[in-house]
Amino acid sequence: MKKIIIAIDGFSSCGKSTLAKQLAKELNYVFVDTGAMYRAITVYFLRNNIATDNTKQINQALQHIHLNFIFNKEKGSSDMYLNNENVELLIREMLVTQNVSNISTIKEVREFAVAQQQQMGKAKGIVMDGRDIGTTVFPDAELKIFVTANVDVRVERRYKELIVTDATITKEAIKQNLLERDHIDSTREISPLKKADDAIVLDNSFITREEQLAIALQWAKERIN
Ligand code: C5P
Repeated sequence: MKKIIIAIDGFSSCGKSTLAKQLAKELNYVFVDTGAMYRAITVYFLRNNIATDNTKQINQALQHIHLNFIFNKEKGSSDMYLNNENVELLIREMLVTQNVSNISTIKEVREFAVAQQQQMGKAKGIVMDGRDIGTTVFPDAELKIFVTANVDVRVERRYKELIVTDATITKEAIKQNLLERDHIDSTREISPLKKADDAIVLDNSFITREEQLAIALQWAKERIN
């Protein structure tokens, strides 16, 4: 059967990864969460105090960063590894979330991540989610979905997720962070977050995960057949 590339972009906490993961499972495709890659790079930069305005330091740091995804059988999804360390939990922490968008504006960081993402998609049969997948990473992707959702719905969903591990988290803090990341992502110079001209918008504010999957799966099947 013909294999395609599915690019899923959109604002923060719109459920892109959930959709991408479900689609990949249904189609038996590889799922790649590119946000996890930028988050892992952020962990390295924070740990090593890399100055975000020092190109030489940034290039040296990138030479020491090895990223890979390893499938976790218990969870049924892949974990992010940074230099052979499982950083899947660490990359979701607030400190990383607060810094990742600034680090993601750096040209060298983007080139580093995009080159690896393009390599992963060479064989097609991939669902990749991020901010610039349909515009920069795979401008020729057969299916591009731009996911959106009402900001308060997004905050509510994120809160339910985070409160499990962080009892101090507030909805206000989450909202502020989401809006700030969306602003940085949409206004940065290199590969800003925007809908590709040929992307289909999927607003999931008031539909269930199952309904969202059914819609996207239909689009995918139309392109595969
Ligand atoms: O998807 P997630 O929220 O985990 O991504 C974390 C951050 O990484 C985003 O807020 C964005 O700044 C950055 N990112 C990016 N390009 C991508 C994926 C993520 O700039 N393709």
